[in-house]
This record gives sequence, structure tokens and C-alpha cells, in this order.
Amino acid sequence: MGMGNMEIDRRAFIASLGGMAVVDAMDSETKAEALEHYMVEKIDEAMGGHVELANAQVLPSPEEATVRRGVGSLFAPSGPADARKMPKLAPMSNNPTLLEFFEKRFAPANHVLQSATRAMKTGMSEEIVMACLLHDVVQNLVKVDHAWWGAQMLEPYVTEKVSWAIRYHQALRFYPDPAHGYEYPELYNRIYGKDYEPQPHIKAAYEFARKHKWYFEARMITVNDLYAFDPNAKVSIDPFIDIIGRQFKQPKEGLGNDNSPTAHMWRTMMFPDNPL
Ligand SMILES: [Fe+2]
Ligand SMILES: [Fe+2]
Repeated sequence: MGMGNMEIDRRAFIASLGGMAVVDAMDSETKAEALEHYMVEKIDEAMGGHVELANAQVLPSPEEATVRRGVGSLFAPSGPADARKMPKLAPMSNNPTLLEFFEKRFAPANHVLQSATRAMKTGMSEEIVMACLLHDVVQNLVKVDHAWWGAQMLEPYVTEKVSWAIRYHQALRFYPDPAHGYEYPELYNRIYGKDYEPQPHIKAAYEFARKHKWYFEARMITVNDLYAFDPNAKVSIDPFIDIIGRQFKQPKEGLGNDNSPTAHMWRTMMFPDNPL
């Protein structure tokens, strides 16, 4: 099983991380994260999006790095090191909705839209479609440990099942489940080697999740993830507007103004230039 139609140039990927020596020194989870981010950014790049992952940001901060690679896309300069410039951000309204975040802070959001599109086309439940649509959006805020951050940020606004699935998708990616249509990505073997072991907390999360009543929902995020890296896919948020209306508890004051336990995370994405 391949990663959709997107060809990953192994050499370009390794070079983007700082070379083979850097890659050899990385643990497997780090490599996997790097790969996912590399692919997400490649798609956005192919789609002409504003989020292009700087090489230096992808990995073990090389000597000349000016940002840690786990930082969110909104905060990391893109482009080659000598020409880094922050993309312009549209000002947000006083009462922002999830749709406005998609339009002004998550765009082009190609990967999550593709993943949700596939979930919808294959007849998956609304909660799975919703989970796919939101599974990586927190990467605009922070990338490291993104499944845990993402689940927490979204928890006040989605069903428990949706946030649970998002929390566990990161760990499940490393464990095949052919019965549910998830093979271990062949690409991971080529890039990380055959004998790699996920970090203990990832393994523990997987073992917990696999016995959980919502395992299927989290597993489906990983299934749709595999096919969501096609740079030529045409996707839009429009088919999801009704589902968002039913599944996302949009606060009437607007995200960030609603005093929820995670309102500050949304505010941080609204105003990433606030100094304090
Ligand atoms: Fe993810
Ligand atoms: Fe993903």
C-alpha cells in the first residue's frame, strides 16, 4: 500500500532532515513525525498554499536552525533559510467560527480535507468524518505530540469519541491492522528501516487504544490518512459544512472568546504575533 499518489523522493526527504547522519540519530517516532510533516507540507506546497515547511524546521534542529521543528506552522518561517518570511495572515473577525479558522489560519488544509473527503466517500460515520477533518489542524499551533495537543484543543467542541480518536491516531499509525484495511506503510520500511521500535509511550498508547470501544474511530483516521497525500486532489470545505454544523459546538461568542478551557489555544492562532 502506498501513500496515495504522492511519490516521496527518499533522497529529498533525507536531505530535508539534514542528511543521513541526522536521520540515523533520530528515533523512529521522530522520523515518522518528520515524514508526516514533510508530506503534509509537500502537498500544501504543491497546492500553492502558504505553509511550506522549512527544511531546518523539519528536524533535529541543525546548528543554524532558528526555530525548533516541533513549533506550529503559524509560527515557523517557511522557505529556504536565507529567504525566510512569515506568510501574511488575514485578520480574523470578532466572532470566529471553525470555518473562519479553516479559511484564514489552516488554509489550504489540503491533507485534512482529503482525509475527510475519503471518509465521507467511503460512507464512514459523521464522527469519523469530523475526526478526519480535524485530526491534524493543531499542527498550525504545535506539531510535536500533535495528537495529544489536538485532542485537548478540540475537546470542548466535539464529542468525546471524536477527540478520543484524534488523541490515539498518532500511535496507531505505527501498527498495522489489515482487518481494518491498514497495512504498515511500505514507505516507513524504506525510510526508517524494518526493525524500528516506536517510543514506549507510543506503544503504550497503542496497546490501550486497541482494546478500547472507540478503537475503530481512531483506526479509521489512520486509514484515511494513508490516502490523503495526493497533491492533485481537488478538495473543499463545502461538503463538510452540514457535518460541522451538527458535530462542532460552535460557541456563540466565537472561538477564543468563549472562555472554554482551550479558548487560549484558539486565541493564540488568531493572534500569533501578540508578544505576550
Ligand atoms: Fe497526524
Ligand atoms: Fe494526518
